[in-house]
Amino acid sequence: MASAESPRIVEYLDADHREGVVSLWNAAFGYATAHNEPGLVIDRKLATNDDLFLVALSGEGVVVGTVMAGYDGHRGWIYSLAVDEQFQRRGLGSELLSNAERRLEERGCVKINLQIADGNEDVEGFYRRNGYAVEKRISMGKRLLK
Ligand SMILES: CC(C)(COP(=O)(O)OP(=O)(O)OC[C@H]1O[C@@H](n2cnc3c(N)ncnc32)[C@H](O)[C@@H]1OP(=O)(O)O)[C@@H](O)C(=O)NCCC(=O)NCCS
Repeated sequence: MASAESPRIVEYLDADHREGVVSLWNAAFGYATAHNEPGLVIDRKLATNDDLFLVALSGEGVVVGTVMAGYDGHRGWIYSLAVDEQFQRRGLGSELLSNAERRLEERGCVKINLQIADGNEDVEGFYRRNGYAVEKRISMGKRLLK
């Protein structure tokens, strides 16, 4: 059961949060590709040392939400937004998102982009509610690490 106490959002701390993040991401995303393996994603994010990796903790200190953001000086990006099923539809996803947005804005970011994976189109409603719009773009990518 979800605790009555509202989750709090803090910066990711490797010693305390890694296990919980990996377990939440495996449940929320289910990874098909090795380069997206949670442990690797966490290691690479920590190497950037940018304080743009946040977790939501339940009253018991369990990781129940995550968001990662990135800023390259031109655009901000949102990744890995996830809320434990038991804690969904209580505003926590929106809170994580706005916390990440605030941090990007503080760095001078003027525009945020994000991608929704094929098959997860339902989540578009969530982003619309949070002020995002679908933009006509062709999304392309190139894998550098084999
Ligand atoms: C997307 C996600 C983070 C939303 O978290 P959440 O805490 O439930 O979101 P909120 O409670 O802040 O939702 C705010 C509003 O967004 C809308 N919304 C939320 N989830 C939605 C969904 N799955 N589909 C459509 N609209 C949704 C609702 O209007 C909601 O308000 P309401 O509950 O009053 O109706 C959560 O569903 C999740 O972790 N999903 C699995 C992982 C995922 O797909 N992440 C996004 C990758 S791009």
